[in-house]
Amino acid sequence: MRDAVLRAGQQQALRHFNHKVGPDVPPWTRLVDYIRYVVQAPGTKALCREGGCGVCTVVATVPDRESPGHNKTFSVQACQAMLYACAGWKIETIEGLGNRYTGYHPIQKALHGFYGTQCGFCSPGMIMTMYGQTKGSEPLTSAKVEASLDGNICRCTGYRPILDAFKSMTVDADPTLKERLVDIEEAYNGVCEKNGTDGCGGCKGKEGGRCKKRVMDFLPLNPGKVQISFGSVHWFRPTNIHGMYSILRNIGTEEKYRIVVGNTGQGVFKNDGPYSAYISTDGIEELYITSVGVPLQLGANVSLTRAMELFHHMAKTQPRYSYLEVLANHWQVVANVAVRNTGSWAGNLMLKHAHQGFQSDIFLTLLAAKAELTIGSAEDASTTHMSLEHFLRTDMFKKVILSVTLPPALHNTKLRTFKITPRAVNAHAYVNACFRMEVDPTDNFKVTHKPSILLGGINPNFIHATETENFLMGRRLNDQATVVEAAEILGREVQPDNHPQDASPAYRRSLSQALLYKTIVGFLANKVNPKLASAGPNIERPLSSGRQEFDMDREAWPVGEPLPKLESATQISGEATYLDDIPYLPSELHGALVQTTHANAKISHVDASEALRLKDVVTFVKAADIPGKNSFVVTAGVYPDPVFVEERSKYAGQPVGLIVARDRDTAVRAAQMVVVSYEDVKKPVLTIEQALAEGGRDEIVTFAVTGTVEPAVLGDPEGQLEIAPHRLKGNLTQGSQYHLNMEPFATRVVPIEDGYDVYCTTQWPTETQATVAQVLGITANSINMSVRRIGGGYGAKISRQNVLAAAAAVAARSLQQPVRVVTDLNTNMTLAGWRDSYYATYDVGFEDTGKLTSLIVDLYSDAGHVSNESPVGFLASVIQNCYFIPNLQYRPHIVNTDTAANTWCRTPGHVNAIGTMENILDHIASYLKKDPLEVRQLNLITPGVPRLLASSHEQTPIKDVILPLLLEKANFVQRKAEVEEFNRSNRWKKRGIAVMPEYYGFDYPSVFRYGLQVSIYAHDGTVAITHGGIEMGQGINTKVAQVAAYTLGIPLAQVVVKASETTVAANSTVTSGSFGSDLCAHGVRKASLALKERMDVEKEKIKKDTGKEPTWLELVQHCFSHDVDLCERYWTAAKEHPPRYDIWAACCLEVEVDVLTGIYMIRRADVIEDAGRSMNPFVDVGQVEGAFIMGLGLFTSEKLKFDPSTGQKLSNGTWEYKPPTALDIPADLRVTLLPNAKQPYGVLGSKATGEPPLCLSYAVVSALRQAITAFRAENGDDSWFQMDTPLTVEAVQRLCGANPQMFKLG
Ligand SMILES: Cc1cc2nc3c(=O)[nH]c(=O)nc-3n(C[C@H](O)[C@H](O)[C@H](O)COP(=O)(O)OP(=O)(O)OC[C@H]3O[C@@H](n4cnc5c(N)ncnc54)[C@H](O)[C@@H]3O)c2cc1C
Ligand code: FES
Ligand code: FES
Repeated sequence: MRDAVLRAGQQQALRHFNHKVGPDVPPWTRLVDYIRYVVQAPGTKALCREGGCGVCTVVATVPDRESPGHNKTFSVQACQAMLYACAGWKIETIEGLGNRYTGYHPIQKALHGFYGTQCGFCSPGMIMTMYGQTKGSEPLTSAKVEASLDGNICRCTGYRPILDAFKSMTVDADPTLKERLVDIEEAYNGVCEKNGTDGCGGCKGKEGGRCKKRVMDFLPLNPGKVQISFGSVHWFRPTNIHGMYSILRNIGTEEKYRIVVGNTGQGVFKNDGPYSAYISTDGIEELYITSVGVPLQLGANVSLTRAMELFHHMAKTQPRYSYLEVLANHWQVVANVAVRNTGSWAGNLMLKHAHQGFQSDIFLTLLAAKAELTIGSAEDASTTHMSLEHFLRTDMFKKVILSVTLPPALHNTKLRTFKITPRAVNAHAYVNACFRMEVDPTDNFKVTHKPSILLGGINPNFIHATETENFLMGRRLNDQATVVEAAEILGREVQPDNHPQDASPAYRRSLSQALLYKTIVGFLANKVNPKLASAGPNIERPLSSGRQEFDMDREAWPVGEPLPKLESATQISGEATYLDDIPYLPSELHGALVQTTHANAKISHVDASEALRLKDVVTFVKAADIPGKNSFVVTAGVYPDPVFVEERSKYAGQPVGLIVARDRDTAVRAAQMVVVSYEDVKKPVLTIEQALAEGGRDEIVTFAVTGTVEPAVLGDPEGQLEIAPHRLKGNLTQGSQYHLNMEPFATRVVPIEDGYDVYCTTQWPTETQATVAQVLGITANSINMSVRRIGGGYGAKISRQNVLAAAAAVAARSLQQPVRVVTDLNTNMTLAGWRDSYYATYDVGFEDTGKLTSLIVDLYSDAGHVSNESPVGFLASVIQNCYFIPNLQYRPHIVNTDTAANTWCRTPGHVNAIGTMENILDHIASYLKKDPLEVRQLNLITPGVPRLLASSHEQTPIKDVILPLLLEKANFVQRKAEVEEFNRSNRWKKRGIAVMPEYYGFDYPSVFRYGLQVSIYAHDGTVAITHGGIEMGQGINTKVAQVAAYTLGIPLAQVVVKASETTVAANSTVTSGSFGSDLCAHGVRKASLALKERMDVEKEKIKKDTGKEPTWLELVQHCFSHDVDLCERYWTAAKEHPPRYDIWAACCLEVEVDVLTGIYMIRRADVIEDAGRSMNPFVDVGQVEGAFIMGLGLFTSEKLKFDPSTGQKLSNGTWEYKPPTALDIPADLRVTLLPNAKQPYGVLGSKATGEPPLCLSYAVVSALRQAITAFRAENGDDSWFQMDTPLTVEAVQRLCGANPQMFKLG
């Protein structure tokens, strides 16, 4: 592959962008790797490599096989597409759309202008997805925009600005969005005059201008049959089915081959290879043939997208195919746009064939359609027709699916299908189901033929609910007893298997019953009691919308001006450089970690011999090769954490060593070949509850403030509990969260003459530098670090990435060659710990009114295998949130489990402490049968009252200003009444609306200090800043540039911010907790003031001498020629930190729950945050929205699961871990930055915004509680129930507790 890099580079110069890929490129090469590493167009990113994140999206124009001579254009995930399958394709990458030099495409401009980028790592993929959508024949509508972002994850923005940006370009755009789009157009004026809106504008229409639109054309390797061999692995491209048969006939019986259509199946089942032959069916026209008539026939290569188009068409034009509308709607939620564009229905069926436990939606729905497959056999070229069930039992070795035939339905056929998923889109089903019945509405909905009740996700052998089908045959669906009995029979015959990564068997069984009831109620429609009719439909999500309100105080502009981020222009064009975008040096090697697969086990042997024999593998480094100390902890903790484990594997995923090879692919493959053997394997302890039960694994934490292990106490909590009028005890578990930094951990170590240049995705270069020095046993001054930006951090990159830097450094030192290690998502998720999970116990006393009198809380945090980074000792002043508790005791505990060391994660611990308090107030309200808001309002803190380990508040605007404003903006009183009315009228859908206030104290810890320098260039008066903070999406660079421009009195355009590096910013601390932005802005203000002060002296002299005010450039050049230093350095010393300040915020959030399935939707969320005088409202609104949505993920869909016997993380990729998508955010999201909020503290009157809104997301838990309680109360149970988080769809349904006895019809 490395050879191929060189050759392709030369070829590129000769052939411009036509790529002729030589046979020296291995057949298994993915398009993404070719684009990034051969073409060296790094705008296309890579993360999951399994089709689940969208960062690798490109747009392909390919020959339309159904319409010879024509092409079609769509978005493709380059991590899925195999390079050789792209022969003859035209690929457009982000580089082709536009950039600083050639002008931007309107989609790029829209994303920029709506502040749609933060860390920017997802941005190229987002833009290319949307660009692909504009290539369809239908006009782009807002609904299409929403639906098309189903495969693109963004962790930073919360999606709202991205959706607004793209919706502003639609035919039905909200007029206010259109207005904003016009502004952006005016600002950029870069639309191509040749191509209208669809070009790059590079030539600006000038005569002789050459269009620089950059497209990669992959020339067909050969118009006919192709065969390429790479060692013993072959790539074939037959041009007809008989050619395919002859290739298959020549394959040995022991060989594994793969038929390649979209190749998306590898995203689901990654370990099915290795293959000795790849057979691309792209050239076989027979497999694309469709027959659009009666019956409908689809060739095997027809993509899911194309099949859906045909289904819609047939449903509209052929009454007996109206059922295909149901299939099309179901397929709409299969995978995501890009997967559906290239993935075939036949490929999906083959996944089901190979893995019968796979919850294939395509299999189930085609089975419900009574479809018939045509299968061809390579041995004798014969064809056979068979049902889908027969197909599952057929040996498919050397057989090919040729087509599927879908018959018309009987006129009285009713079909309902379901896909119940942990989030709205791009998720496989907990359970999927199809109910097909022929019913006679004129005879009480009598079932006239044997129905089909098909269920997926139960167990590998379960398809038909035969007993229930037999029972329903001939019965009438509007008979109450029939419905209940059918559900009970179904409950008995459904026997879900039990795997730790799946939803519980109880849920899957109950879901099956609930779906049957939903179906019957849906079929009966208006024949059931109107209140019960709510069982039938699914929750309908409206088109989402957002509103943002903020003041614009122009006094200090550009500080306070809503401006897009400085980096956004390079992020939207793919020019922004992330670590793995740095071009490779010719001698650069690649590393891949070897990780343990067992927690709590002794390593008996490590055998890398087979891996080392693989061609292009260079070495395997392990603990014995470390010249210094085997620990990647320096100041980030007190306990060592080994770079490479030596004796006992503390957690599954711990690094054992690093394979180094000449290319990344080889390194990854070789790492999988290293055999690690274990002995003394003990059952791992994986949760706090297990650790407490085992004993000896918890310790009381030393308080950060007092330095003791004595509980923090205010008043007399124990005594007051004894005499409290009411007393409640309870506990609560809050789960972990993966940071989901879209740029994975990466590092690069380059030996140089006096040491090493180290590049790392780090939030804390000083600690990375110290780690490498410690591990290599060399001095800090021999290590140079420079960090331009990182693609998201959220705390993940404070310390955990340093294990990679250390590992790469050991290899680079021993080989004296540059070594780069870039993890994939799976490695990133299993290598490092996440947010700590928490367990709380509480004992609370209160009066009849709900007023708190006393509280004792114990909070346990799961630190993982080593207790370095738990925030639980910092939470004494946080636990009471914004409430007054006269007697309070807080005791923090750390628990060790056999898992990776957990680490800081956006708002660490703070969110859990506040969540605990909010849960306690909900408990009190439930007990007293009071409105939860009333209980909260009653207990709101007031100025001057004592607080635990903190000073009293001088002001408490939450009570008099923020909460009233929120209630008014959210129209709370009216909406609460509407929610109650809705709940009275609907038995099976329930709503809840909750209000949550928040206090967040912002104290600059004394250890947070940064070095920085502001430099003015005499040449032209421009300014460059370098500071010790790290830009990771939070807008630190934009804020410091605004402060410098304001202080020096120059336009913002004259200021740039350079990479952070460890010479000027030596000893700078970590960028986290929003302290970096505040303190670097503060430091830049100080440095700029110092510069201004000495330049003002010169200015006065000039004025005196010339009688004129000098221009900025005149002043700068005068200073230079008079030996005035134009550079100023500043160290944000603790003693000069700005004074601490209070942040207040509040949220109102409404949900709707489908009681029968547990699926819910956040209907609306209103958030108000006091951001002081915002330094940049665009940046701050973005921070609020992003943090809030990340918190919603924490409390709802993001669930960590382990294998209980090995301790391996089962949540290790996009398939098993589900952060919110663009379709999970509140349908209506309104954010207000508190008006008139300028304050005397902070930096120029501003406040931090990156963390507090995350805590407000606990409101979703309270709102869900209300909705669930509304249902339970109707069943006579209005008592308190524990709600551990995350509240997955499964958890919500289990808490509602519906059962077949409740399945009423009238
Ligand atoms: C992120 C993601 C999410 C997904 N979500 C869902 C989901 O929610 N529900 C769901 O049902 N599916 C889901 N899928 C699966 C997806 O539908 C399939 O990956 C896709 O349909 C496979 O088609 P393909 O053309 O890419 O197959 P390929 O990957 O090219 O091939 C898959 C297999 O089929 C074999 N094969 C292909 N064509 C033939 C043929 N004509 N005859 C014999 N063998 C053949 C190949 O040898 C290979 O083993 C998801 C996939 C991804 C990546
Ligand atoms: S979808 Fe391709 S890298 Fe994630
Ligand atoms: S901007 Fe989307 S992931 Fe960072």
